[in-house]
Amino acid sequence: MALMDIIKARHSIRKYIDRQIKREDLEKILEAGNYAPNAGGGQRSMMVAIHNKELVAHIGKMNMAHFDRTHLAGSFVSKEQPSTIDDPTIKNGFYDAPTVVCVFCQDNFMFKTADAFCMMENMVLQATELGIASCIVSRGYETFDSVEGKRLMEEWEVPSGYACQGFVILGYINGENPQSKPRRTDRIKIVEK
Ligand SMILES: Cc1cc2nc3c(=O)[nH]c(=O)nc-3n(C[C@H](O)[C@H](O)[C@H](O)COP(=O)(O)O)c2cc1C
Repeated sequence: MALMDIIKARHSIRKYIDRQIKREDLEKILEAGNYAPNAGGGQRSMMVAIHNKELVAHIGKMNMAHFDRTHLAGSFVSKEQPSTIDDPTIKNGFYDAPTVVCVFCQDNFMFKTADAFCMMENMVLQATELGIASCIVSRGYETFDSVEGKRLMEEWEVPSGYACQGFVILGYINGENPQSKPRRTDRIKIVEK
């Protein structure tokens, strides 16, 4: 697939079938994350991949445990792939996907979020090329802000001083791919003189 085709074929998927992705595909997705641009070339972000559906659901529920809906008035994300914003009955912020990659970065680093999201973008594009559905999910801090969250980070040997910046969930789509929203044309300007 040509790069532009991959970019346009990627969608945030929130409906998954009960089928795990292959470990070799996961490794390729992580390799793509590892080659992302990163501020100062410091390679500070790290990925912890959870390739276990039950544990993913456990963390997905932690992701929604303190979801504050009070600032969502009027927000709407997707009809075809409703998000936790659209549907308050969703209790698993990872939408029953079988795999999640948690991205951690040094908490006192100015570009921690930018670094993490470059990594995530590389991962979702690689997943698309492999025919694997994905979605970037936020609320990294809140997800691990508990005794259980800290216990898991310790178990995974995430260095102290690191905090979660976000997630990439991975699996196989249940149903059809959604349509891309039409793109605004006023977001691009080319200046030549
Ligand atoms: C910074 C960022 C945070 C996001 N957080 C979430 C999230 O927590 N939950 C979710 O379902 N989707 C999340 N998304 C996915 C967006 O909702 C999605 O990219 C957007 O609706 C456009 O749809 P598309 O990705 O299919 O083009 C996030 C995307 C970005 C870039």
